[in-house]
Amino acid sequence: MGVFVTAASAVLAACATAHTAECVAEQWNAAARERFAEQRFGVFIHWGLYSAYAQGEWYLVQGKLDESAYSRMKDGFCPSKFDAREWARIVKGAGAKYITITSRHHDGFSLWPTKADDGYNISNTPFRRDVLGELAEACREEGLQLNFYYSLMDWHRKDYPAGKSARTVLGDQKGDYASYKRFMLAQLAELIDGYHPGCIWFDGEWEHATHNDDGSWERSLDWEFDDIYDFIHSKKVLVANNNHQPIRAKEDIQLFERDLPGDNSDAGFSAHQPVAQDRPIEQCDVIQKNVWGYKIGESSFRPPEEVVAMVVRAAAKDANLLMNVGPDASGRFPAKAVEVMAKVGKWFAANGESVYGTRGCAVASGKDIVSTRRGRTLYLHFLAPGVDEIAFKVDGAVKEWRLLSPSGQGCRADVSRAEDGKLRVKISRPEADAFDKVVKITLAD
Ligand code: GLC
Repeated sequence: MGVFVTAASAVLAACATAHTAECVAEQWNAAARERFAEQRFGVFIHWGLYSAYAQGEWYLVQGKLDESAYSRMKDGFCPSKFDAREWARIVKGAGAKYITITSRHHDGFSLWPTKADDGYNISNTPFRRDVLGELAEACREEGLQLNFYYSLMDWHRKDYPAGKSARTVLGDQKGDYASYKRFMLAQLAELIDGYHPGCIWFDGEWEHATHNDDGSWERSLDWEFDDIYDFIHSKKVLVANNNHQPIRAKEDIQLFERDLPGDNSDAGFSAHQPVAQDRPIEQCDVIQKNVWGYKIGESSFRPPEEVVAMVVRAAAKDANLLMNVGPDASGRFPAKAVEVMAKVGKWFAANGESVYGTRGCAVASGKDIVSTRRGRTLYLHFLAPGVDEIAFKVDGAVKEWRLLSPSGQGCRADVSRAEDGKLRVKISRPEADAFDKVVKITLAD
């Protein structure tokens, strides 16, 4: 059954304006932000010692384990099937443009042979290989951007000042922040100089921040972020912080965890994050519905149609989507994730132009029909079978239009002018086909 949707205001010019870099005026920075936003789709990889326990990345806390027992897994970590090229091929095949990998997660274990720590890193496992180095090389070969997730919270070190989450592992450890900050800066220098990431993606600050009912924030640690951000910017790398707080002046990308920007649902941690108007935005989410790190027996994978719809809904909100996979201890992506990603890639091969390098657009701002645009080209995305018709006002005549998704498979589209002057777009599809159907409309200048 068709649903008739009318967009209140459909003037293309009213679509979100270009990202301006008013806070950090340097040219490299504005260009890097723009490049980031154009990519629109990335793959998040959570991988580390926790993958070997196969219980998700919080197992040290959730399993109520002793850290000295947990960290012994370092001596057993030997992912014999790890193949960075294979990872990069799968990611590229999915249509994604970048990878963000956990260089060091909350458990404090580093995936590169860092000299800055006490030896809790990949070079002291039987595996020994430089995971980040191999991945950086593979990404270069495939033309993918590589970014690094970096945990601010640490469940391993003695100098980390424990906040509300780390306390469950470290007890009331006061730590020594000056020492911990020196350690982080030394690691960040290694990461940036050694592997040239596009962005450092922080996580864990939230364990030292509480949002009060009166709207204020209470913080139990001064991280001295200005110093850290200035250091990263001095090396021409972007900064993002998954802190669930309003964006700071020196942060380049606004992050939303498991929530569409602007939805501000409590469950998604984003209840107190107003959407930044002048920064690129990224929503991160999980392909295995409830966990980031590998969890054996977790079978609730999102179907490919849903992954595509999530990327498209984010793009329509002018945001990127970073979809997570958690490889197992053998070093392989879960087989089901590989299958899903290949199907997502097929969709992108036919419809990618409606996502990459586009801007969010308010012509259709429902849940099941959304829109993106590039200049005078408008893309209407029909995300749900059964919701197949829309009418909206638009400036200018239609120059041309077509259905992007290959037709001849039972899909049809029709674009016409209704009596009230509105543009009426209607599609039909086989009932079993739940993939986003895209109608591309080019308007005269
Ligand atoms: C949360 C979790 C963490 C995960 C992150 C990804 O902050 O603590 O395990 O890495 O979300 O966004």
